Amino acid sequence: MDMVSANEAGRGVPRAVPRLGAAPKAWAGHIESVLLDQGQIQARVAELAAQIEEDYPRGDLTIVSLLNGTVMFIADLVRHLPIPLRLDFMGVSSYRDGTDPGELVFTRDLKLDVSGRDVLLVDDILDTGRTLARAREKLVELGARRVRLCVFLDKKERRATPLEADYVGFLAPDAFVVGYGLDYQEQYRHLPFVGILRPSIHSSALRVEVLFHSYFKELAGCGRVAVDLEPGATLAELRAHVLGLFPKLRPMERSFLVAVGVDYQPGEHQLQPGDEVSFFPPVQGG
Ligand code: IMP
Ligand code: MG
Repeated sequence: MDMVSANEAGRGVPRAVPRLGAAPKAWAGHIESVLLDQGQIQARVAELAAQIEEDYPRGDLTIVSLLNGTVMFIADLVRHLPIPLRLDFMGVSSYRDGTDPGELVFTRDLKLDVSGRDVLLVDDILDTGRTLARAREKLVELGARRVRLCVFLDKKERRATPLEADYVGFLAPDAFVVGYGLDYQEQYRHLPFVGILRPSIHSSALRVEVLFHSYFKELAGCGRVAVDLEPGATLAELRAHVLGLFPKLRPMERSFLVAVGVDYQPGEHQLQPGDEVSFFPPVQGG
């Protein structure tokens, strides 16, 4: 079967996200910026619905929405559709490890019969394309006559499977976004806006601050640098990492002093997020 659903002409051009906004105070620790506020979301959902209504004038439509990410989007979308339609849900989970896609598993089967039907398959966000490609394949296996795709957000640059949606709310940047149904580890689905999640929340990296003192500052070319390490990294691993980043420090390798916070620590010392690690020449020049 053909795997590519062409974005047929006349179906509306996807919107670029308007200017970013500041996160509400309550969420500022988690959300870097607001991508779409409630007003922008509602206006665009109404436009998408108008387009869909125009394309299915006979109203002979079955909408299949993917759980759980589409809860808000589908609830808003169908309330703007004054045509007869049947609505059902399919559960597909990608068992993500953090923000990286994992193995696809169906967690809820369709209850309605879609054989010989026009189906509109709805998802929250089109990323690599694996989820929608698999869900679409399943609907074709179940005998659907024609399947069109509708997504609220589209991260075009991230596509790994050649697939385009017929209806796209907004083009999204290559950042991890949450809210309006979208989650990070099942959190944030209830936010009424779409926001960019702070990298410090989803990054598993261990970030430490490295300080260079005395003439090490000249050799390194800076007084301070933030370094991201694997969780559980040791002081010896940080030393090796810093020598890789700043080759001019290498001649000092055997003699320089390193302190975590204010204490000198052995190489096997495990670093903690936010640790400040100081690099000194063997003789403190002040
Ligand atoms: P795909 O299979 O890579 O296209 O991923 C689609 C699924 O990944 C969506 O249904 C979402 O559940 C999830 N996803 C992808 N990007 C994001 C994001 O930025 N925030 C939240 N979920 C995402
Ligand atoms: Mg999802």
